Amino acid sequence: MQLPLILTNFKTYQTATGSAALDLAKKHESVAKTTGQNVAVAVQAFDLANIAQNVDIPVFAQHIDTATYGSFTGWNMAEAAKAAGAYGTILNHSEHRISFDILEKSIERAKEVGLKTVVCAETAQEAAEIMQKFNPDLVAVEPPELIGGDISVSTANPEIISDSVDLIGEGKVLTGAGIKNGEDVRIAVELGSVGVLLASGITKSDDPEKVLEDLVSGLK
Ligand code: G3P
Repeated sequence: MQLPLILTNFKTYQTATGSAALDLAKKHESVAKTTGQNVAVAVQAFDLANIAQNVDIPVFAQHIDTATYGSFTGWNMAEAAKAAGAYGTILNHSEHRISFDILEKSIERAKEVGLKTVVCAETAQEAAEIMQKFNPDLVAVEPPELIGGDISVSTANPEIISDSVDLIGEGKVLTGAGIKNGEDVRIAVELGSVGVLLASGITKSDDPEKVLEDLVSGLK
């Protein structure tokens, strides 16, 4: 995975669903091209193929299940995500928590098909445990109480970033929650994070491209 990285999670925001999702992904592609920085998006399953076929930046699934080929109605299968053009998947997001048993199997499934894994954790200790037990490509530490809010993790809880990096080491930790601007990114990177995972700072913005340009400026 190319690092450092700005990864925008589109969640189910209206501004980031269907044709709006493709428009927003294209804005990410444009900023990645003009700035030369690593920018990626995590999109809904139904939007993934369309977006992956139409942009030249990494596209992540927001989640995959453990299902394999066969009779598993309504599951998001790793092979299908890969075939749709996914580069990787988020797992265990605070809004889609799974047990460690399922997480272990999901990471195995992702690795089997060649999907990168970004596993979310709510505390530094949980992030370290996940990294030590399951060795995903990255962990993304996000204090749940700050998700979707106005105060960023970089401002409200910088210790969770430095504690995670202390426990895990450099090169493996993303952080997120309330990230809105380049200064938030700069602080996170200074504390050892290899980038950020964010959503509302982009999906609720009137000018996502401008916000993205500011965000990537914090990577330098
Ligand atoms: O996955 C990113 C996320 O949970 C943070 O959301 O809206 O606080 O940037 P937000």
